[in-house]
Amino acid sequence: MPAVHVLNGPNLNLLGAREPQTYGTATLADIEADLRAACKMRGVDLVFRQSNNEGELVTWIQEAGAQGAPVILNAGAYTHTSIALHDAIRGAKARVIEVHLSNVHAREAFRHHSTISAVAEGVILGFGPRSYALALEAFYPANIEKKKR
Ligand code: DQA
Repeated sequence: MPAVHVLNGPNLNLLGAREPQTYGTATLADIEADLRAACKMRGVDLVFRQSNNEGELVTWIQEAGAQGAPVILNAGAYTHTSIALHDAIRGAKARVIEVHLSNVHAREAFRHHSTISAVAEGVILGFGPRSYALALEAFYPANIEKKKR
């Protein structure tokens, strides 16, 4: 069965309560439930994880790369600082779409740089929880390519 790993970084466990004016009111469990339904419809196995720990995200990226499973990655603030995540994606040859709930380019300057974008297949940001759904659609289109799997 084709699979997708959705990996969430620091503070995303607080979604729903955390700065709702920026991130909205959906919880991470709500996002997971949406993706689970979208994956089921596509016949895709979903691994959905969150960690506040950079090293754990590195390990999970390596794991997805070894399994050949594409990754939807919201690395939270590590997006802007982490050479380790950049190296993990490159080293594990992981296929990654970088996602963000908010439009980081409309926010503080320190959010404008990503260490991940250069090693990602693409970047989707600014659409709230739909950023994740759009990334899933990019990896596994619901209609066009379904018959090929
Ligand atoms: C975020 C944007 C990051 O700048 C921030 O540190 C986050 C969430 C987003 O999804 O909009 O934790 O990745």
